[in-house]
Amino acid sequence: LQKVPAVLLDGRKIADGILNDVKDKVSSIDDSIKFAIILVGNDESSNIFIRMKQKACERVGVETDLHKLEEDVDKGEIISLIKTLNNDKNTHGIIVQLPLPKPLDENKILGEISPLKDVDGLTPHNIGNLLLGNEMIVPATVEAVVTLLENTNINLEGKDVVIINRSNLIGKPLSMILTKKSATVSLCHTKTNDLASHVKRADIIITATGTPQFLTGDMIKGGSIVIDIGCMKFEGKTCGDVDFETVSQKTSYITPVPGGVGPLTVAFTIRNVLRCFELQKSQTMNTEK
Ligand SMILES: NC(=O)c1ccc[n+]([C@@H]2O[C@H](COP(=O)([O-])OP(=O)(O)OC[C@H]3O[C@@H](n4cnc5c(N)ncnc54)[C@H](OP(=O)(O)O)[C@@H]3O)[C@@H](O)[C@H]2O)c1
Repeated sequence: LQKVPAVLLDGRKIADGILNDVKDKVSSIDDSIKFAIILVGNDESSNIFIRMKQKACERVGVETDLHKLEEDVDKGEIISLIKTLNNDKNTHGIIVQLPLPKPLDENKILGEISPLKDVDGLTPHNIGNLLLGNEMIVPATVEAVVTLLENTNINLEGKDVVIINRSNLIGKPLSMILTKKSATVSLCHTKTNDLASHVKRADIIITATGTPQFLTGDMIKGGSIVIDIGCMKFEGKTCGDVDFETVSQKTSYITPVPGGVGPLTVAFTIRNVLRCFELQKSQTMNTEK
């Protein structure tokens, strides 16, 4: 592994290239592409993420259709909306913005989205295909992390990777993709015994705990790569899990927050809308044959 000083992995720059590419493809398509976003409640971070996705859609020429539902909405009402959108030929991509308010069954609701319109790639069909190594739609944050790692030119084969997060959205699918690339992956969480020893020996640390300053320089091995997925407000500023000042002294590569994983996640979300559109078109062509 490379030695210090740390190289900054600039997610904004890569995201720009992806969105330009999507824009070119969208402008070459005659149909208009529509992306439905379902927001339940009024979570501040969710509102920010949705605005970012809407802005990116505007930039590339994809129409957005925001459905705002009350915090105490009945599960049946959300499912009925999803079914309507599944059957709407003019809607090509659907997401339910996460997290959902606590009493709602996230898996049950996400499972209702048509796999061909599943922009977040979180339906059982798409997660199942990812597990089998036949990924059709990869969750955008996972694609973002993999792309950032590719930008370091590191050969992932045999590398010791620690992911601190075991959620369906991040840790689980990311561990499957990195395992497919022959990395040795440890999925860590609040019940992990001696997290410090896992982190200390890792070549690559990917953290998404949502705790500011969670990862500090003294915890990591010199020359490791640190990817910070965390994204929250702390003392009035947007920050991630990583204590950037101390960690960047020791890593070979590091992502900033903001400007690392976040913009790439948005870009890959919009690319997934285009992917859904293409999948639906190719299916229509196959059934017409
Ligand atoms: N940049 C982006 O594009 C992007 C996209 C999505 C999410 N995020 C951010 O990523 C963070 C996590 O999101 P999420 O939805 O996955 O949250 P989540 O479901 O709450 O998951 C957090 C994970 O971190 C683990 N964890 C928390 N504190 C820990 C500790 N002290 N030691 C070890 N493990 C710990 C949890 O372990 P347990 O399972 O044991 O509870 C859990 O697996 C948030 O800051 C979110 O805003 C960013």
